[in-house]
Formats: sequence, structure tokens, C-alpha cells
Amino acid sequence: MSAKITKIKARQILDSRGNPTVEVTVFSGSHFAVASVPSGASTGSHEAVELRDGGKQWRGLGVAKACRNIEKIIFPLLKNVSVFDQEEIDRLMINKDGTVNKSKLGANSILGVSLAIARLASQLKGQSLYFYLAKIYGFKKLSMPTPLLNVINGGLHADSGTDVQEFFFIPKRGSFSQKIEMGSNAINALKHILASKKLSVGLGDEGGFAPKIYSNEKALRLLTAAVHKSKLQLGKDIALGIDAAASEFYDIDKELYSLNSDKKHYKPASIHQLYASWVKRFGLEIIEDGCSEDDFTGWQNLTRVLGSTVTLVGDDLFVTNPARLQAGIIAGIANSVLIKVNQIGTLSETMAAIKMAKKFNYKIVISHRSGETTDDFIADLAVATAADYIKAGSLARGERLAKYNRLLKIAEELKK
Ligand code: PGA
Ligand code: ZN
Repeated sequence: MSAKITKIKARQILDSRGNPTVEVTVFSGSHFAVASVPSGASTGSHEAVELRDGGKQWRGLGVAKACRNIEKIIFPLLKNVSVFDQEEIDRLMINKDGTVNKSKLGANSILGVSLAIARLASQLKGQSLYFYLAKIYGFKKLSMPTPLLNVINGGLHADSGTDVQEFFFIPKRGSFSQKIEMGSNAINALKHILASKKLSVGLGDEGGFAPKIYSNEKALRLLTAAVHKSKLQLGKDIALGIDAAASEFYDIDKELYSLNSDKKHYKPASIHQLYASWVKRFGLEIIEDGCSEDDFTGWQNLTRVLGSTVTLVGDDLFVTNPARLQAGIIAGIANSVLIKVNQIGTLSETMAAIKMAKKFNYKIVISHRSGETTDDFIADLAVATAADYIKAGSLARGERLAKYNRLLKIAEELKK
């Protein structure tokens, strides 16, 4: 079967915040596949560049240039290349861009094409996307990830007034669908607790609640209460975790972490004490971005004190970048990496980061962005790479459920 790329079409669609993003359709003859690109709010400064139009239209966020780059530059480059040559395709786009951060063509342009081609290739082979991805990148084992359910949204994702961006339920026992059910029960209990305290049950960007609580510790107390109310055992059935997204409350000039909601301030040398106390009081099992993206002192202390018992995830720290991850591994900081396809901009570089993490026993968390579409690619990516966790928001909002529902389907397929 001929599997040559015959056409690539790009258009501007909207993400879950109503901001423009890129959707790509790749054709091979009459066959085609579509992929769309997510977008962050608390982006790391070392991420690949999302190309935006600027100017007055769409608040400067239009992606017409990115779409034009796809049709006028990337398509001529890839015309007649086989969709099965994924790594070669990614390399061609990286070289054509020629910058370290994909600022010329835009990581959003390149990623949309990279993902759509993989999806089309899997379709032409008649294989599930997760199966195809595992095969071409040499992952030997397929497995279901544990969901990290972001049930209280704060930071830049909601106006709940917490400095910490995300508070997770981590269901720990049973099959994937049993974990989702446990999560659903605990979320339901949390909703009732919030309502009984006359707190809002409206949702933030990632589908978690956004009650105006103005306190990180109050959020942790609410989550604990919800686990108990749903007759689950904290730490055994469901554990708690956070994404502090600490780059957002770190002042580089003052070298100070300011958790304004709890009126607490920490130097890089002491921020780990706060997390150690939360681990002790609330049994936190995962802390993502506990320190700011370039605060290596903070990260080193945090890893020394909690690294043997707590999963310490680097998101803004590593930005899915194999080079930054390698530097972190050598420095011995964190013990887990967050993987976001649009932080680096191609599927092949994403896989390189995942392989490096596995080689050094860093845990893998595949992640959505706060601005998402209903594209469920990351569900297949998590299964293909046997990732430890997937973080796709709470069990609400269609763009979040698209990922969990795809995983429920894959779980069924894997059972057969
Ligand atoms: P973002 O947030 O998509 O807004 O960057 C997600 C995260 O920090 O994990
Ligand atoms: Zn994060």
C-alpha cells in the first residue's frame, strides 16, 4: 500500500479556553487523520515556542501564521514521504526549523503534523494507535497508567485563591476502571462537602472545582475529608498529590517563594520544609514542580529530603526536553518527569525524553495542558510507553473526559 503524504491541511480551531489553536489533517490519497495541539497557561520558560500571530485579532493569539507554515513550508518538505517514516519526518521538520526552540516554524505547527502523521500511519496499518507507537519506538510492554485527577484547580487555572495550581486524587487500587470509579466517588463526596460549606462547585480550567478557599492547606483538608466521606482509606485506596507549579509563585529577584494564601514565605534553602510537613500531615505521594524551573538548590534539597519516599515530578524543570532532563539526572534532582508533547514539539523527541527517563528509573507522567481539545492522543501515548501516570484533569469537561474515556476503551482491548 502506498502511504505517501499527498496533502496537509491546517486550520485554526479553538481550545478549551476559547483560544485559537492548530488542527492538522494529513492525507495519503483518500485516507486522512486529524490531530490538534494543546496549549498551556503556566508555561515553563524553557518550552518550545508556540507561534502566535500577535496584533489585534484574537487577542494576539491567532495561529494563522502557524497554519500557513504547515501548508506552505512543512507540506512541500514532506510531500511524498512515507507516513511510516516518523522519526525521519520529525527530523526533517526539526532541521527545517533550525532553531533550538522551534521558534521559526512554531512548535504548534510541527507538533500538529507530527501527531497527525502517526495517527494516519496507525490507521493505514490497521493498528490501534498505542500499539503502533509502542512498535515503532520499541516499547516492549503496554500497560494502563494510574490517573492523577486534578480535583481542585488553583494558581493560574482558577480564581480559587490557592498558590498551588493543582490538587490530585490518586486512586491506587484495582483496574483502571476501578480507579476511575473510586476517583468519581471521591469527587462526588468533595462536591457535597463544598456545597455543604456553601463553597462554589463551579469548575476551573482542568475540570476540578474552584472554590474560593484562599488556602493551600484548606484544599488538602477538603480532599482528606472527601476521601473519608466516600468511605475510602487515605493512602491505601486514594492518595493525595499536588502540582505546586512553583515557578509561578517564586520571585527570582528576591529569591523567595511567596505562598500568599497561607501567608508563608520560603527561601530556596527551606521550601522543602513546607512540603515535608504536608507529606507528614496529608500523606502526599506526588509533588510536581515543588521548586521553580531554575532553582537547582531548592530541587536538590527537596530531592535529598523527600526523593526516597515521594514522587517528585519535574514539569517546568524538564519541559520534556531530553537535554534538560539529562542535566537534571546528572544533578540528581527530581525522580519523575512530566511529559507534554507540545513542550518539545515532536513525537520523536517526546519518545527520546521518555526513554531517557526510563533508563534512569525516573517515573513517567504523561500530561495534558490546561488548554486542551478533544484530541485523545495522549491516552494512547501513555499506554504505548507504559507510563506510570496520566494527568488529564478531573472527571469533568469533554476535553478531559476524552482522554479518560479513550483509556477505558483501551483497557477493555488490553483485557482481550
Ligand atoms: P499548563 O499547566 O498546561 O497551564 O502549563 C499544566 C501543568 O503545569 O502541569
Ligand atoms: Zn505542572
